[in-house]
Amino acid sequence: MILKKLAFLPLLALLAAGCGGAPDRKDVDPNCLYMRLGGLNGMAALSDEIVNRLLTDPEILANTQLQMRAKPENVPGIKVQITVLLSDLAGGPFTYSGKSMKEAHEGMAVDEKQWEAMLKDVRGALEKLKVPAKEGEEFVALIEAMRGDIVEVK
Ligand code: HEM
Repeated sequence: MILKKLAFLPLLALLAAGCGGAPDRKDVDPNCLYMRLGGLNGMAALSDEIVNRLLTDPEILANTQLQMRAKPENVPGIKVQITVLLSDLAGGPFTYSGKSMKEAHEGMAVDEKQWEAMLKDVRGALEKLKVPAKEGEEFVALIEAMRGDIVEVK
């Protein structure tokens, strides 16, 4: 009887894999930025610290469009998306499949001043988490590459 009950377990595992439960097995270079930043824990810690800083930054909060879009119930999910995106770009084992940066920030009217404030928050997070200068600059460069897609008000 118990065996009959357990018979559905492999099916459940297959279903979970089909729903994205299976880990992505992309090859990871041991010297890539993702690994040098501490792998998944390092990337998640950075995303967490950066988003927390953005959400309490008066320069960022001055933008009322942003205030409306930054719903507290979405924050855990946004942190995951940012972790996956930056991990992907830094050579990690995940593939980001969320919205493009242009799409995700459309209509937020992010300006250059807010972009610079965000970079300051990123640098503050890198410092707090004691990321070495070289890795910090490489991380900032990944983010800088998105400026053109996120800043709408030039
Ligand atoms: C001044 C700079 C930025 C501001 C103010 C900002 C703000 C926001 C806000 C408010 C959302 C929530 C949108 C919504 O739920 O409708 C969001 C989503 C997101 N942002 Fe940013 N962001 C900035 C820069 C960045 C950068 C540099 C990255 C890349 C590391 C990034 C990655 C994302 C991602 C992945 C999402 C989630 C997209 C999705 O819904 O799938 N953002 N951002």
